[in-house]
Amino acid sequence: MRKKVFLTRTLHGFALKELKKKYQIEVHKGKIPVPQSKLRSKIKDVDGLICFPYDKINKETIDLAENLKVISTYSVGFDHIDTKYAKEKKIRVGYTPEVLTDATADLAFSLLLDSLRRVSEGDKIIRDGKWKVIYGAHDYVGVDLQGKTLGILGLGRIGQTLAKRAKAFDMKVIYHNRSRISKTKEKSLGVKYVSFERLITQSDVISIHVPHTKETDKMFNMKVFKKMKDTAFLINTSRGKVVNEKDLIVALKKKIISGAGLDVFELEPISKSHPLTKLQNVVLAPHIGSSTKETRAKMAEITVKNLNLGMNGKKPIYSVGY
Ligand code: DGY
Repeated sequence: MRKKVFLTRTLHGFALKELKKKYQIEVHKGKIPVPQSKLRSKIKDVDGLICFPYDKINKETIDLAENLKVISTYSVGFDHIDTKYAKEKKIRVGYTPEVLTDATADLAFSLLLDSLRRVSEGDKIIRDGKWKVIYGAHDYVGVDLQGKTLGILGLGRIGQTLAKRAKAFDMKVIYHNRSRISKTKEKSLGVKYVSFERLITQSDVISIHVPHTKETDKMFNMKVFKKMKDTAFLINTSRGKVVNEKDLIVALKKKIISGAGLDVFELEPISKSHPLTKLQNVVLAPHIGSSTKETRAKMAEITVKNLNLGMNGKKPIYSVGY
C-alpha cells in the first residue's frame, strides 16, 4: 500500500508528477483555504501533509493525525503550524527559506520605491481620469531615497539582502535584531546596529523582517507610530500581525507617519472595502513577496524534497527544530 499525502492546494505539474511516482496523493480543489473540517478529516490517516501559510495546523488538528510523519509547508513562515507540538509528536516540519530571499527582498524594495515615489498612486490617478494638468512644481512629489535612513527590523537573510539593495541606492542602513551580527558582516554590508528605540526614531523608512511570534505580535502600534518621524514610511513583507492594523490606519489617516507599503495583512485576503484601500498614502500588494516564476518553482521543489525526507524518517533540508 502506497503512503498517503494530502495537499491543501495544488503545486506545479513537475512537483505533482514527482509526488505521484511515490505516493497516493490527494489535492484539495475547492475553497481556499481548505475548510478546517476537511483538513481534520484528511490529516487522520495521511503520512504526509503539504500545506500553505494560511492553513492553521494547531495542536487539536495535529492530535487527530494517526500516521503523520511530516508537514511540509510551501513557505518560509511557519507561524501557522504548532511546531513545538509537532516535534513532541515526532512529526517533522519542513519549510522553504533561502530560495525566496531575493524575491522577497526585491518586493520589499519595490514597495519602498513605490511608496516614496508614489508610482501606484499616479497609476490610479491616470486610470481614474484625474491627470488633468502636466508637470507642476508641486505635483505628485515624492521623496529621494538617496541619503535617507532605512531601518531594518530583523537582519536575517531577507533583511541583509534588502540592505544590499538599499546601499546600491545610497541609503544609510541601520538595523535591530535579537542578536547583533558580526562586526565583519556589519562592515561588509555597511549597516549599523541600533536599539529598537533608535531604529524607530531615526529611520526614514522601516522595513519589517521578523516572524510573527508572541513577542512580535502587534509590535508596531500607536505608541511606536508616535515615536516614528512623521515623514517616515513603514514597509511590511513579513506577517500582518506584527503590526496593529487599526493603529496603522489611524496613523496613516492622521499623518502620524507619512505612508506605508504592505504585502501582508492581519487577515488575508483583504477586500475592496477594507479601510486601507481608502487611503491614498499606502501601497498594497496581495502577499506576493516570494511570487516570481523562478522562486515559486524552487519552493515547490524544496517542499517536495522536504516531504520526501520526512516520509523516510529523515530531517528535511530545511527543518524546524527536528
Ligand atoms: C512565506 O513564504 O512565508 C511568505 O510569506 C511568502 O511570500
